[in-house]
Parts: sequence; structure tokens; C-alpha cells
Amino acid sequence: MAQEASNGNQVSSKPPPTPSPLRNAKFFQANMRILVTGGAGFIGSHLVDRLMENEKNEVIVVDNYFTGSKDNLRKWIGHPRFELIRHDVTETLLVEVDQIYHLACPASPIFYKYNPVKTIKTNVIGTLNMLGLAKRVGARILLTSTSEVYGDPLEHPQKESYWGNVNPIGVRSCYDEGKRVAETLMFDYHRQHGIEIRIARIFNTYGPRMNIDDGRVVSNFIAQAIRGEPLTVQAPGTQTRSFCYVSDMVDGLIRLMEGDDTGPINLGNPGEFTMLELAETVKELINPEVEIKMVENTPDDPRQRKPDITKAKELLGWEPKVKLRDGLPLMEDDFRQRLVVPKKI
Ligand SMILES: NC(=O)c1ccc[n+]([C@@H]2O[C@H](COP(=O)([O-])OP(=O)(O)OC[C@H]3O[C@@H](n4cnc5c(N)ncnc54)[C@H](O)[C@@H]3O)[C@@H](O)[C@H]2O)c1
Repeated sequence: MAQEASNGNQVSSKPPPTPSPLRNAKFFQANMRILVTGGAGFIGSHLVDRLMENEKNEVIVVDNYFTGSKDNLRKWIGHPRFELIRHDVTETLLVEVDQIYHLACPASPIFYKYNPVKTIKTNVIGTLNMLGLAKRVGARILLTSTSEVYGDPLEHPQKESYWGNVNPIGVRSCYDEGKRVAETLMFDYHRQHGIEIRIARIFNTYGPRMNIDDGRVVSNFIAQAIRGEPLTVQAPGTQTRSFCYVSDMVDGLIRLMEGDDTGPINLGNPGEFTMLELAETVKELINPEVEIKMVENTPDDPRQRKPDITKAKELLGWEPKVKLRDGLPLMEDDFRQRLVVPKKI
């Protein structure tokens, strides 16, 4: 049975399932075998880089390359502690692992709205499959949920205890509601089967290897500034977001996985910017000659988003270190290389 801990989190008193007998057999290795679903994507590939730095880790990535790319992992392909499998998480997977970082899911609205039925299948069936795997082999599983579970929040900043304000039938619901069901499944497996779970609620994250032209605001502005095109701000431009650099995010995910708390825990940068402020910062840092143009907004775009990260600070000793002004130039270098537009000197 799950109990309520003093910090308000669920703590399971039921022991996790016994690890597979294979782990106690002669094939047993002291290494930690870690599965990263969606590991060829933006956050996933940075997570893999960090996990591979530890020589005790063996990393298996599964990805269907919908929004990810082998290119993001090319430095690890052929490494003896690394395996890459083309696999769709909506199909079952049988591997022996100790930890599962479950990231597989398109994160940008352009991609998740492209095939909404597939997006919800990835969130629901994909998460069920990964929980089934965790149960079978006794692995600990971490889900990368999202600040989108708060919808268009009526509470600001958002604490983990807030239940959200989500439209269940809108064009973004395949993602928002998909992640909400994924969180439900995680807790039901935890309470019913004693699975060790961790849930991170990720707020906007940016950095090198984001898909260019994926419609996310930071990548949009940087690509537009490099190409010398107007920076298109969705009206009214006063809506706010917070932006976390990817190295900080990866640090938070690993701390959460290694710590004792199930979450959900908000991971994000509480520094809040309006879309107009972000456009002006990108203009100043990357291309002062471009203009800023207001365009029509998309339905259900939240007006404000800012994480309350008190829990992450207290329970994980985590807070973001990289400031937006320091992170944007690192992303610019990567985008310039990929767009083949060198910096004017
Ligand atoms: N980047 C952010 O700002 C952000 C914010 C909140 C939550 N998240 C979550 O973090 C995770 C990673 O996001 P990201 O920004 O790296 O996105 P991404 O699109 O770059 O990465 C997602 C990866 O999952 C893979 N994938 C998608 N569907 C799959 C399927 N059915 N089977 C196997 N692989 C599949 C894609 O090919 C890709 O490599 C996602 O779960 C996302 O919901 C990201």
C-alpha cells in the first residue's frame, strides 16, 4: 500500500518486484544498465552523454526517430557500453535493465499535433509498455512529464500540488492529457505493484540539438535571427515562459532518478520572460538587424508558466545554474553549424 509521506508525496511500503533471475546469474555485471527511451531526441541525447561519462553505466537507447536523430548520438555508436535500437515504444520491448528513463514522445506542438492519435498512443500504450518492463525486471522508471499537465494555469507560479486547468478536447490535449494519463499509470503501477517510480514535470528546456523549425519559441527565434528573418511573436507577446538550459535539466533528471522521492517534481528555470522580452534578447545577442513581428496565436496557448521549484531545491538540492543570456549563445553556435551560416566577424 502507498502512504502519504510528511512532504505530501506518495511513498510505497510495498517492496519493488524481485529483479529478474538473470541479474543474479553468472552473467551478472556490477554495471548499471540504463534504458533511455527517446534517447535520440534533444533532451534524451544530452542525458545519454551524461550517463555515458560514468564508466559503470551501460546505456541502451530505443527510439523510432520520429523527431530524434542518430546524428545526436553519433559519438557513442560503436562504443562497447552503448546500444541503439530502432523501436517504437507502443510495441512491447524485452530487455534486462536496472533503470528506465522514459522520454519517448514528441515534445513540440508541430510534431505532436501532426498525428495526435499516435501521440496519445505513445503516451498511454508506450508508458504502459515501459511500466510492464519495469515490473518484469524490477527496474526503477522515471517519466518525463511536462508543465503542460497544468494547462492554462489558474495558479501562479505552479506548484506540484496544483491539479491543472487542461482542455480535454482541444488540439493540444493529445499531449497534455496523454502525459496526465501517463502520470496516473505511473502511480497506479507504484501503488498496485510496488514499482519504483520517479516523475519529472519538465518546463520549457532549450539548448543545442533542438530541432530547427520545430515551432518551439526559442528554436524559432534563434533560427529566424540567424537567417535574418523577422522574429515572429505570437500575440499578445505578454504571455510568459521560463527557459531551462538542457545541462541543468539533465542534472535534475539524474538527481531525481538517484534520489528517494517519487515526485512529481517540477524541473525548470523560475526566471520568467514575456515572449516579447525573449525576442528582444535574441535580437540583441544574435542579430540586432532583424525586426520583431506580431502574429496570430494558436488555440489553448497558456498565458503564463513559471515553475515553483521549492521541492526540487529541498528534495534534490537542485536549481538551474545557466542564465538565459549564457545559454542562448551556446545554442546559436550549434544552430549556425547546422544551418551553415557562419557568424559575421
Ligand atoms: N523540451 C522541452 O521543453 C520539454 C518540456 C516538457 C516535457 N518534455 C518531455 O521531455 C521528453 C523529451 O523531449 P525532447 O524535447 O527531447 O523532445 P524530442 O522530440 O527531441 O525527443 C523525443 C524523442 O522520442 C522519440 N519518440 C517519439 N515517439 C516515439 C515512439 N513512439 N517510440 C520511440 N521513440 C519515440 C523521438 O524520435 C525523439 O527522439 C518528452 O517526453 C517531452 O514530453 C520536454
